[in-house]
Amino acid sequence: MKKLRLFTAGLALIIDLTGSVAAQITIPVETGNVAVVLQTDKNNHLRIIHTGKKLQEPEEYTAAGRMYHLTGDGGSSNNSAFAVAGIDNNFSEPAIAVVHADGNNSLDLRYENKTLTSEDGAVLTKITLKDAVYPFYVDLFFKAWKDEDVIEQWSVIRHTEKGKVTLNKYASANLYFYNRDYYLTSYNGNWAKEMQPEQTQLKQGMHTIQSRLGTRENLIGSPNFMLALDAPATETSGTVMLGQIAWNGNYSIQFETDINKKMHLVAGINPYQSAYDLKPGTPFETPRFTYTLSFTGTGTGSRNLQAWLRNHQLLDGKGRRLTLLNNWEATYFDFDQEKLVGLFNGAKDLGVDLFLLDDGWFGNKYPRNGDKAGLGDWQENKKKLPDGLPYLVKEAGKQGIKFGIWIEPEMVNPKSELYEQHLDWVLREEKRPEIYYRNQLVLDLTNPQVQDFVFGVVDGLFKKNPDLAFIKWDCNAPIFNGHSQYLEQNKIPQSHLYVEYTRGLEKVLQRIRAKYPKVPMMLCSGGGGRSDYSSLKYFTEFWLSDDTDPLERVFIQWNYSYYYPAISMCNHVTDWGKQPLKYRVDVASMGKLGFDIRANELKPEDRAFCQQAVKNYDGFKDIVWHGDLYRLASPYEKDLASLMFVNQGRNRAIMFNYLTNNRYISEANVDPIKLQGLDPAKKYRIKELNLYDKQKTTLDESKTYSGDFLMTVGFNPNVTSGRTSVVLSIEAL
Ligand code: DGJ
Repeated sequence: MKKLRLFTAGLALIIDLTGSVAAQITIPVETGNVAVVLQTDKNNHLRIIHTGKKLQEPEEYTAAGRMYHLTGDGGSSNNSAFAVAGIDNNFSEPAIAVVHADGNNSLDLRYENKTLTSEDGAVLTKITLKDAVYPFYVDLFFKAWKDEDVIEQWSVIRHTEKGKVTLNKYASANLYFYNRDYYLTSYNGNWAKEMQPEQTQLKQGMHTIQSRLGTRENLIGSPNFMLALDAPATETSGTVMLGQIAWNGNYSIQFETDINKKMHLVAGINPYQSAYDLKPGTPFETPRFTYTLSFTGTGTGSRNLQAWLRNHQLLDGKGRRLTLLNNWEATYFDFDQEKLVGLFNGAKDLGVDLFLLDDGWFGNKYPRNGDKAGLGDWQENKKKLPDGLPYLVKEAGKQGIKFGIWIEPEMVNPKSELYEQHLDWVLREEKRPEIYYRNQLVLDLTNPQVQDFVFGVVDGLFKKNPDLAFIKWDCNAPIFNGHSQYLEQNKIPQSHLYVEYTRGLEKVLQRIRAKYPKVPMMLCSGGGGRSDYSSLKYFTEFWLSDDTDPLERVFIQWNYSYYYPAISMCNHVTDWGKQPLKYRVDVASMGKLGFDIRANELKPEDRAFCQQAVKNYDGFKDIVWHGDLYRLASPYEKDLASLMFVNQGRNRAIMFNYLTNNRYISEANVDPIKLQGLDPAKKYRIKELNLYDKQKTTLDESKTYSGDFLMTVGFNPNVTSGRTSVVLSIEAL
C-alpha cells in the first residue's frame, strides 16, 4: 500500500517534469484517515474531486472526478480548487478577486506544478497556479498531519506585474463537499456569553460566519465551527468537520450551498474594508485554515484537534502549567502592596503555585483606580506600590510562590500620559468624535514605533523583574476608530489597517518569544474574545470567559472543549453563581485550575476542602492536561453533564459529573453513564474525590469493574440534588 501511495505522487512529478500539461494530474492530500483530492481538467484548471475518507487504493482517486458532472455551462456549481472572480465559468463565491496592474479584473488560474516536502513531520503539498495571461500566481499549501488527521490549508499570492495588483478578496482555503445534507454548528457570543452554539441546516444560498471587530475575533461570533456531512453528528457517530480559521483579526468563513446541493466553503481574512495593494515580488501569505474530518463523530474530531494543538501548535503544549490565585475579583482596583502581600498568604495556604496581580497596579498622573484612566502608563502606581513590583516579586518568593502580572499593552485610555504624548500612536478618526469601548482606544500596531513600545512593556517588566513568572495579556476593545496616522503618513492605504494590525501584533509576539521563549502567558480578551490558533503559538493558555458562574461555565467549557485541549483552558474558582464551593472547584479542575477569591476569608472547612482539592488536582492534572477527553453526557440533552479524561496508558482516568438543572430534582440520571476510552480487558477501581471532610461517598468503592463493563453497561455516579457535582478517579488495578 505504501508503495502505491508513493507511486501516485511520483507519477504526478514525472508529468510535471516532462511539461505535459495536458495530462490529467491527480493530487491526493492525505492524513491517516482523510483525503482531499485535487485533479486538473482538460483546460488545466484544478478541481476538488473528493473531500472525505481516504481510499484504500490511491490510484482509484483518479476516477472520482468522472463520477460527478458538475462543470457544465451553468457556472453556479464550481468545484474549483481556488474559485476566481472573472472567467473560469464561475458564478459561485470567489476565493480570490483582484484588479491587475493594468486595471483588468479577471483571473484564470491554471495548474503549473506541485511539490511535496516534509515539514515538522507533516507532509506539505504546494501547488502553484498561474494566470493564463498575467504573471500572477497563487500557491496553494496543504500541510497534512497524519497522526492527528489535521490539515492546515493556506495560500500565498504573488505576482511580477508592472505595478501593484489590488487584492479585493484573498482567501486561505477553498473546499468542496459532495454530500447529501449539511449541518453547521457555529457560535454566537458576547461578553460573559462566549461560545453559544447554534445548529443550522444549510439548505440554499450563503451562510457566513465572520468578525469585523479588528481585535477580539472570538467575541460576537467565533472562528470555530463544525460541519456535519450527510446527517447531524453525535459524539460517537457521523461524519463531521471541525475547524477554525487561525487569524487573530477579521475573518470570514462562507458556506455556499450550490444548485446541486453541494457545499462550497471559502475561508480566510474578511475582505471587509480590506482591499490590499500587492507590490510585485512581495508574496502575501494568508492565515491557516485548520481542520480535521472525523468519521466517528465529534468526539474523535475534537480529540484530533486537541492532540494537534498539544503536539504542534500551542506553546509548551506537552509541558506543565502553574496553578494560581488571581486578585481581580477579590480586590478589583482597590489594593495596595500590604493588602497584596496579605493575599500571598492565601495563595500559599491554598497550595497554588503563583499569585497573579491583575489590573490596577500602574499609572501615576492618571492612576488606574478604575477602567477610565491610566491604561498605557505602565509604571507602578507609587501610592499603591511604593516599593514597586520588585518588592512584590521578592515577597512572593519569600512565601514560596511565584508572581505573575496583568497587562493590556495594545490599548490606551484617553486619560493617560501615553495618549497626551503620542496621539499619533492611537487609532482614531481625527475628523470625527472618538468612540470608546470600555473607555479605551486601540494603539496603532501597524506603526513599528508602537510595536517597539508594546514589546518594551513586556521586556521592561522582565528586565526589572527577572523572576516574573507569568503574564496575563488582556485586550478589551475592538477597533472602532479604524484610522491609522502611520499608514497615512507612509501613503499606505487605510484598507491595509486590519491586516497590518494583526501582523504587527504577531511581530511583537515573535520578538517576545525570541527573547523569552518559555515564560507562561495567558491570552485574555475582556473574557474570551481571543483564542485563535495563530495566537496560541505564543501563549500557553487562554481565558475562556469572565463568566465564572460554574453552572454556566459547564456549558461554556463544554463548547470550547471541541476545539481546545484542557491544558490551554484557564478556569478560575470565583464567587459567581449559586453553586456550592465544591461545584465551583470541580468545574475549574477540568482545565488549568486557578482561584479568584478572598482565600484568607474562607471558612475553615472550605479552606480545608480547597487545600485537599488542590492536592487532588496535583494528583490528576497530568491526565486532564495530556489525556484524551470524552464527553459522555451532554448538558444540552439531560440534566447532567459528564466528561472524562483518560491517560495514554488507559490505566488512569478522571470523570467529572454535574447536575445542570436548578430545579428540584432528586436524581439527575437514573441511567448509568457509559464510559469511553478505557481498556475493555482491564479491571478498574472507582474512587470519589473532592469530598468535604465529613462527607461520605454514596458509592461502593470496594467493587471493581472491567473496562468492558464500564463502557457497555456504564457507571452511575449518583448525581442528585444533594450531590450536584461528583468527581471520580478511575484506576486500573
Ligand atoms: C477583563 C478580563 O477578562 C478580566 O479577567 C480582568 O483581567 C479585567 N479585564 C481587568 O480589567
